[in-house]
Amino acid sequence: MLSILYYLLFAVSFPLVSGNQELQELIKPQKVEFHSLNFNNTLHWQPGRAATGDIIYFVQYKVSCPLAYQVGHPTWYGQSLWKNKEECWGIREVFCDLTHETSDIREPYYGRVKSVSAGVHSDWNTSSRFTPWRETKIGPPSVNVTPRNKSIKLKLQAPNSPYTRRRGSKISMTNYYDLVYRVFLINNMLEEKNKKLVYEGTDKVVKIEDLKPEVSYCVVVATYLPVLDRSSGYSSKTCTVPL
Ligand SMILES: *[C@@H]1O[C@H](CO)[C@@H](O)[C@H](O)[C@H]1NC(C)=O
Ligand SMILES: *[C@@H]1O[C@H](CO)[C@@H](O)[C@H](O)[C@H]1NC(C)=O
Ligand SMILES: *[C@@H]1O[C@H](CO)[C@@H](O)[C@H](O)[C@H]1NC(C)=O
Repeated sequence: MLSILYYLLFAVSFPLVSGNQELQELIKPQKVEFHSLNFNNTLHWQPGRAATGDIIYFVQYKVSCPLAYQVGHPTWYGQSLWKNKEECWGIREVFCDLTHETSDIREPYYGRVKSVSAGVHSDWNTSSRFTPWRETKIGPPSVNVTPRNKSIKLKLQAPNSPYTRRRGSKISMTNYYDLVYRVFLINNMLEEKNKKLVYEGTDKVVKIEDLKPEVSYCVVVATYLPVLDRSSGYSSKTCTVPL
């Protein structure tokens, strides 16, 4: 009901300016795509080629529903599938946080954007299909390093998802994937890019032994998802000197 109301509002406030098809095409948002890090799912786009000055954007999203989709409803009827993202209805930013609208992480979603400039409104431009579980990028773990006797001890913590339990604590990414940590040692005397893989596994506490005392060692850690064969970037470098 609300979405129909919005549609009417939209249609009334921005009557279709026909004969302006060229401009409509020129202000149409481009490169509409989801960016997703640890299930923080944000729709991004770029202004159309002729989008200058005062331009505002309108965002909708939907769960892809293959059956209804194939029936091929006319667009106005398909309105029941597309939902307005109220926080991104008439915005100037070129991104829209859809994390909470795409929280069924195994479902495929679409997002779409249209723009309005000087009373002319563009067509919708739609993202490709986005399935959070398949497409999110995972971040590196947080790393805590303590020097030990000729060794260093690492405590690793997987990134959190944006989702919370009833009591408000964040749900870790380990809730959704079997994660593997890859620990790389950088001996300061070596070249920075000379990373040596010293541990690969699921332990949250890792000890690296047989190190020289009073020599500075640095580590970086990446998260690896075996199921998707995908790795995160490296954590920022953490250094310490074994005792
Ligand atoms: C958006 O529209 C333009 C043409 O108007 C097209 O080239 C582009 O590929 C479309 N799709 C996305 C996702 O940006
Ligand atoms: C460190 O290890 C050496 C042998 O590897 C041992 O002799 C020494 O007592 C250890 N020191 C501490 C503080 O544990
Ligand atoms: C998603 O990431 C952006 C940028 O880091 C942040 O501002 C936003 O609050 C995040 N969204 C959620 C729902 O956590």
